[in-house]
Amino acid sequence: MSDPIFPHRQLLGIEGLSPLEINRLLDLSDPYVSINRGPEKVSGSLQGRTVVNLFFENSTRTRTSFELAALRLEANVINMQVGSSSVAKGETLIDTAVTLNAMHPDVLVVRHPQSGAVKLLSEKVRCAVVNGGDGSHEHPTQALLDALTIRRRREKIEGLKIAICGDVAHSRVARSNFYLLQTLGAEVRVIAPRTLIPSGLERLGVKVFTDMREGLKDCDIVMMLRVQIERMSGSYFPSMREYFRFFGLDREKLSLAKPDALIMHPGPMNRGVEIDSDVADDFERSVIREQVELGVAVRMAVLELLAGNAIAESATTKAAV
Ligand code: NCD
Repeated sequence: MSDPIFPHRQLLGIEGLSPLEINRLLDLSDPYVSINRGPEKVSGSLQGRTVVNLFFENSTRTRTSFELAALRLEANVINMQVGSSSVAKGETLIDTAVTLNAMHPDVLVVRHPQSGAVKLLSEKVRCAVVNGGDGSHEHPTQALLDALTIRRRREKIEGLKIAICGDVAHSRVARSNFYLLQTLGAEVRVIAPRTLIPSGLERLGVKVFTDMREGLKDCDIVMMLRVQIERMSGSYFPSMREYFRFFGLDREKLSLAKPDALIMHPGPMNRGVEIDSDVADDFERSVIREQVELGVAVRMAVLELLAGNAIAESATTKAAV
């Protein structure tokens, strides 16, 4: 039987998920945090299943995190990198999906530089699909691990003031977090240079600021975003030095938030551009390493749940034939 609260076999984004569904994913992730801290990190729930990591874009931490999560559930894992696959020979996204589907994997984790590509691919396969980040659209497991980190430190997300700062225009992390944090009742603010604020952002319910000093006031959480040079065509600000001066998080700007405000960053960090090492490495306030740690727990829960749902769904379909 599929999970009664989260019956889907795909996690393509956070948009449209209910508070109940999001909390279900967080609740299932929580126990894996302590399991991963103990000596016996393995749970056999995906034994004999196959997880394929299909990455059309460079990634170190997300791919490793998904791989480790699958291995700890005792699944077999295959990593497909674009450079070594037939995509480099000109095979289309759909052909790749159809080819992989013919080999009957249980879960596909897909990262792609184009927004919407993972959804397109998911329509052509029967297995479970997880979006590992599509263009500047969504990165659902990142938002879930961010939420789990906040929830474990602050009990609940409802009522918190959370500032998401920096390159919002190119950030799938920001978009997934807008949906998730607001669905769970947080007040979300965006702080960025005008050139990095997408038009119509207010429609997503967030408060927009162009001055760190105003936006950070009384915040419980300060989430910094990487300046994504690789997604920029043209120049969005005069220099990295000037960016850091106005939008980089340092001790002085941080002092405007609540005295115990937590610092977050999805990684990889550009130290001295969007964040100063002094605050990034402040063990009292920075939870950046914890985010990486909890990412494995979240991905274990997501892989296990979706694979279970996909298996239950195909069993029902077979029974009906
Ligand atoms: C993020 C991504 O790829 O969107 N990183 C990640 O998943 N570890 C954010 C980023 O690249 O800046």
